[in-house]
Amino acid sequence: MDDRTAGEYWNDRYRESTRIWSGNPNVELVKEVSGLTPGTALDLGSGEGGDAIWLAKQGWRVTAVDVSAVALERAERHAVEAGVAGQIDWQQHELGKSFPEGTFDLVSAQFLHSTVELPREEILRTAAGAVAPGGILLIEGHLDWPDSLRHTDHPDVHFPTPDEVISDLSLDDGRWEILVSRAHDREQIVDGETLTRRDSTVKARRLPG
Ligand SMILES: C[S@@+](CC[C@H](N)C(=O)[O-])C[C@H]1O[C@@H](n2cnc3c(N)ncnc32)[C@H](O)[C@@H]1O
Repeated sequence: MDDRTAGEYWNDRYRESTRIWSGNPNVELVKEVSGLTPGTALDLGSGEGGDAIWLAKQGWRVTAVDVSAVALERAERHAVEAGVAGQIDWQQHELGKSFPEGTFDLVSAQFLHSTVELPREEILRTAAGAVAPGGILLIEGHLDWPDSLRHTDHPDVHFPTPDEVISDLSLDDGRWEILVSRAHDREQIVDGETLTRRDSTVKARRLPG
């Protein structure tokens, strides 16, 4: 079991390469957010900034959070290059220990997973509490490891089904509308090889008022 802190682990991970993720926004984020009127958005586990930068380009004012200073510094540089630096507030938090202030029209958690300790259910409940009335909570997660990682030394991570994600959120009855709850396949290119991953999408709206 890896005993590095979340910050140490993810800084080491990001230092392995100058770019880990594609730089493109996540496909399901684009699909689920494209029809929404831009407002304020919170991106949890923003990594190298692909989603935050795409949201900013659509007119959202974004608060982007990650535990890794290396990722945040890299993401901030990409935002400057993309001409949207003024629309994104980058904040370093170890979610589970601290959380950004305020409420947001969109709260997005895209693949907020970790091979070191991450109180994901608790963080997602806090995330639901940060959705403004009428706002959207969007949670994208894996449902399994890719074959390349399945047999390596990872802790026993349980990937929750969409129904389990919703149940773990403990949403107030009658105050939320579940808009999307589905498992789906997604193609991912890793080291030039196309893999099919099984993912889950949960999209919920806090009712206005
Ligand atoms: C699998 S990556 C996903 C990155 C990005 N959302 C994407 O889809 O490309 C998980 C991200 O969550 C961040 N993370 C992990 N644990 C965290 C924590 N406790 N608080 C804040 N960020 C965390 C990592 O640094 C990493 O950038």
